[in-house]
Amino acid sequence: MIIPHLQLQDLVKNRLKHNPAVALLGPRQCGKTILARMLSSGIPGDYFDLENPADVARLSAPMTVLESLSGLVVIDEVQRLPEVGVKHFRRLWNRGASSQTPRAR
Ligand SMILES: Nc1ncnc2c1ncn2[C@@H]1O[C@H](COP(=O)(O)OP(=O)(O)OP(=O)(O)O)[C@@H](O)[C@H]1O
Ligand SMILES: [Mg+2]
Repeated sequence: MIIPHLQLQDLVKNRLKHNPAVALLGPRQCGKTILARMLSSGIPGDYFDLENPADVARLSAPMTVLESLSGLVVIDEVQRLPEVGVKHFRRLWNRGASSQTPRAR
């Protein structure tokens, strides 16, 4: 049974209102993925799970792909694709700054 951590969800949603990107950091198996999936369910956007080869392939050209996305972008296990890197996230960051729409990853 999944226990919804509503306070935590509200905290992240609030951070997303005021920041173009929010990082979910924590020890193994603490619930980062479940929290990200709960946050993103029902919200337009894209979810990348970098433990899934299909999602890794979707990000094979990160600069082009990230720039074309709209809505909430979640990148789970982002450390598995270090070449995505800060310079690529800057594209999402800049997009958020220009549209004032909440962004994550
Ligand atoms: N809100 C929740 N309610 C109930 N169980 C939960 C909840 N969040 C996490 N769990 C339990 O913890 C396990 C790990 O959750 P999750 O995969 O989200 O963690 P994670 O931090 O993403 O792990 P990893 O570091 O391995 O990626 C889940 O399989 C589930 O059993
Ligand atoms: Mg996880």
